[in-house]
Amino acid sequence: MDAIKQHPTAVGVLLAIVAISLSPAIAGARAQTTASSPDGDLRVGDLRTEYVENPLGIDVRIPRLSWKLYASGRGVMQAGYRLQVAVGVDSFSRSEFLLWDSGEVRSERSVNVRYSGAPVESRRRYYWRVQVWSNDGRVSEWSQVAFWESGLLEDDDWAADWITSPLEDDPSVSGPAPHFRRSFELGSGVESARIYATSRGVYELFLNGQRVGERVLAPGFASYNRRMPYQTYDVTELIRRGENAVGAVVGDGWYRGFLGFPGDRNVFGNQIALFLQLEVVHTDGTRELVSSGEGWMTASGPILSSDIYNGETYDARAEMPGWSSPGYDDSSWLRAVSGGDNTGTFVADLAPPVRRIEQVEPLRILNAPSGGTIVDMGRNLVGWVRFRVSGEEGETVRLTHGEALDAGGDLYTANLRTAAQTDTYILKGTGEEWFEPHFTFHGFRYVHFDGYPGRLEIDDVTGVVVHSDLELTGTFETSDPNLNQLQQNILWSQEGNFLSIPADCPQRDERLGWTGDAQLFAPTASFNMQVAPFFSQWLRDLRADQYEDGSVPWVIPDVLTSRGPAATSDVPTAGVGGWSDAAIIIPWELYLRYGDVRVLEEQYESMRAWLSYAVSEAGDDLVWKPDFHFGDWTGDVETPPDLIATAYLAHSADLMSRIAGVLGLEADRSEYTDLFGRVQAAFRSEFVSIFGNLSYRTQTAYALALRFDLLTDEQIGRALRSLVDDIREQGTHLTTGFVGTPALCPVLSGNGRADVAYDLLFQSTAPSWLFAVRSGATTMWEQWRGREAGAFADPELNSLNHYVGGAIGDWMYSTIGGINPDVEAPGFKHAILSPIPDSRLTHASASLRTMYGTLSTNWELENPDRFLLEVAVPVNATASVRLPRARAESVLESGERLIASTGISRVRENGRDVVVEIGSGSYLFSYSLLPNLPIEQPSPLTPSKLRLLLLFLLLLTVTLMRGRRRNTLR
Ligand code: BGC
Repeated sequence: MDAIKQHPTAVGVLLAIVAISLSPAIAGARAQTTASSPDGDLRVGDLRTEYVENPLGIDVRIPRLSWKLYASGRGVMQAGYRLQVAVGVDSFSRSEFLLWDSGEVRSERSVNVRYSGAPVESRRRYYWRVQVWSNDGRVSEWSQVAFWESGLLEDDDWAADWITSPLEDDPSVSGPAPHFRRSFELGSGVESARIYATSRGVYELFLNGQRVGERVLAPGFASYNRRMPYQTYDVTELIRRGENAVGAVVGDGWYRGFLGFPGDRNVFGNQIALFLQLEVVHTDGTRELVSSGEGWMTASGPILSSDIYNGETYDARAEMPGWSSPGYDDSSWLRAVSGGDNTGTFVADLAPPVRRIEQVEPLRILNAPSGGTIVDMGRNLVGWVRFRVSGEEGETVRLTHGEALDAGGDLYTANLRTAAQTDTYILKGTGEEWFEPHFTFHGFRYVHFDGYPGRLEIDDVTGVVVHSDLELTGTFETSDPNLNQLQQNILWSQEGNFLSIPADCPQRDERLGWTGDAQLFAPTASFNMQVAPFFSQWLRDLRADQYEDGSVPWVIPDVLTSRGPAATSDVPTAGVGGWSDAAIIIPWELYLRYGDVRVLEEQYESMRAWLSYAVSEAGDDLVWKPDFHFGDWTGDVETPPDLIATAYLAHSADLMSRIAGVLGLEADRSEYTDLFGRVQAAFRSEFVSIFGNLSYRTQTAYALALRFDLLTDEQIGRALRSLVDDIREQGTHLTTGFVGTPALCPVLSGNGRADVAYDLLFQSTAPSWLFAVRSGATTMWEQWRGREAGAFADPELNSLNHYVGGAIGDWMYSTIGGINPDVEAPGFKHAILSPIPDSRLTHASASLRTMYGTLSTNWELENPDRFLLEVAVPVNATASVRLPRARAESVLESGERLIASTGISRVRENGRDVVVEIGSGSYLFSYSLLPNLPIEQPSPLTPSKLRLLLLFLLLLTVTLMRGRRRNTLR
């Protein structure tokens, strides 16, 4: 367990600062500094390459470099920078060792600066440092030295061959995980050593008896048939002179295990295999290569079977102590054979590694009514358990994992569908034995132990939380414990489902990269964690899996499709509005939140192709009536697919016009602006009645129409009233599903009805967010009524760990906390801080670690209406702060009147709010809120009243006509 790292990851290698003489411009600025800024405390740090600190083995030929500035005072901006890239950590002072010297660049740019030195070569470490100067004349020291190391960039860098076991096995079931090993001699001293490795299946790597790295389930889940990710390991410390041994174990994993709800296995192929290249650089400069191929031995070991859904069976009696160490006698092993050719292109794995992140101690141990023992972990989590056992050789312990207990107190497994989630351990009987599985993961809160010899005690069991090690970037906290629990549940669902890919759920026979779920949750996800490399990698698979006609599969990697690797059915599994639009929406979110232009460039053709596919499906009238659609999915009230699909078509066209604008593609921009206008018009003529109402009056219909800007100004007011009426008619409940829910609160608060959004948020009966919280949930539920009055919803679709409902997190951060990106200055270069308080909360705080540093808000509402708002903006960024219900003259900032406060560049009144422009630093605003305006009464004509009125008019007409007929006949 020592290998478990605290989250976030510890700072890596930081190297010596090397001073060089200053250039005249900087020296000038420094002279000025001494005069104007006595503390001179401008610092530069947190250097990142492609978002990562000192990444290893990346295959980006033009890496992007980012750094942060730290300085006291207010309104500090970067005025310029100088960046240097060198061949060695201490070679910056020799110009012949510089690969790039940007010279002094007058620019505020500190995020994603593209390297433009000598071309990047394979397996090379690039050291870099940066120096900055600020708008107030301060100059930083050179930063500490950071680096990136390139992976293998050229086809001929690959010398290894795929190897596999010669043993025949039955591809219809999971077989033993083959172990591979090879020993080798090394002569002269070792300067450095790297392993580049991947597998068909999931692997664990060993060198000289030690586990290499901390990754689990590598190489992760990818579109292996098109893009085969490889990982790079620095093994310099593990390798030695003389005899060495390298080994790997490979389990079925996503490659050939069960995958997808149709019950398929061998989706990518039926043969697991290993590919490994160990490269050693000796102190004398010579290189040596040990790669998978001839001379490798293989044997089956203790892992009798392993499967992502079904679990692992491990026979400790079959362990082979020392199998990956030098000197091990492998004479009884078989020769590994060729594993065939490459199927997908090798690509460096740029996403955060999947790791064991946290340990959880169980809450309690229960006796299962039907026998055995149940361990309650106290919360729903994703990973596995590690346990201790002593007993006789051959005794077998079976652990079945589930998310809930049934009414009788036994493990509830119906919602797992076919996923067995069972690990089996066969004892070797040598005393105290410890076990944790290798090639599976489970979604669970409860573990049923069957066959455990003796009495299971609480400290025999530890939960191991496993997910992609994304950096936590956000915090959100309020005076309401239920809201805090909701935030915690959202975070736990994100963690559990961000395991290599953004998946829908972690427990049943699915765990797939559902495109719709990912796009709906992406804004929330990016508040909680740094998601740029994670989503960018998944988008590369999306592009690879996109069909030639532009259609985007429902899930990425595309494992359900009739055209993908499985090809088991003729039913198309691609091209659904709201799902496939992830191709456009997610890159846009990454641009908005990280200022990432490259992801737009890389994804552009894919976006275009998807949009033109959607347009052609919609046909000439641009109203998309899909043959198949998921609808709103889990909503209480059905919204017609036509409306959803057409609304998303418009939205994607709108985003495309903005994206083309960002990329400077004028012709495309006007083409998509025009398309957006035409789809808007089509939407109105199809779905808005002549009286200005939507023809389908569902909350989702209103929310999408308002959110995607599909209505005229006149229609907006009416739609908003109707939406509020409907919410009230439902007893202040939402009726939305996956598609409508993320849009609901934003359109309410965005149109002056934050009160109603708060009412929905505080609702505690189903359907609502807090219903699950109050029912004891610790993760987000797929269904609003996942479990109500003791009964579970339909087990076919009742994941208790599904993040989409957690899309409310975006609203909590952006409206309660008030942190918003600004499309005009993306990446939070300029932020819009606009919290909207509510009397049900006495305080709320939110923070976000952006590419510039930490943005934060923290407000308090004191009785009766005293409002205190503290905000902090990082150096080299600015913000607009919207002070709600304020008059400029009555606002104080840190005790001063606004006009007297330094760091505030502009103050303006906007309706009943005051908007101030600020630069970096901390600010404290205080004032008495203006009284709330009386809230408009619901329109007299609610839908039910309207129905009654129509009925009455109908009856009246019929009566009148009858009367007239009678008169005529007379
Ligand atoms: C998944 C969802 C997904 C949906 C399609 C489900 O089985 O779990 O999250 O979006 O299918 O509607």
